[in-house]
Amino acid sequence: MTIVPSVLEPVSEASDPDACAAMTIVVCNSCRLPSDPLLEPRPGSKLAAAVIAEAAGTGITVKQVGCLGNCKRGLSAAVLRDGCWSYVFGELTPESAEDLIAGARLFATSADGFMPFRARPESLKRGLIARIPSFANLKDLP
Ligand code: FES
Repeated sequence: MTIVPSVLEPVSEASDPDACAAMTIVVCNSCRLPSDPLLEPRPGSKLAAAVIAEAAGTGITVKQVGCLGNCKRGLSAAVLRDGCWSYVFGELTPESAEDLIAGARLFATSADGFMPFRARPESLKRGLIARIPSFANLKDLP
């Protein structure tokens, strides 16, 4: 079965704040490291703070949640674009903020509604947990 995504207008410049305005990164601020579950402040909150700092001036919105349901493979974050598939990533670190911003900028350039794979940072290749269609994409699905 082939899943055909909605065809979207490509966003002109991924580094343009207007182009990234459709992008949101959702970070779980409760995630703990499997190797050090008692560490405080929680590494998820460190990642959230780093993503907020890294997103300054990009046009990308950053939101925090208490859990993304990916606790065993945290740290966790999701990258969303209006009208497109959403991506949940795991096995991130407090240092993954730059990769998440790079992934969001890359996704903003996509004309087919998917985050391009090859150009993604490595952490967003090996750490993919799930991708989920938006309601707009459902009309293209069987
Ligand atoms: S605590 Fe972070 S995904 Fe559940």
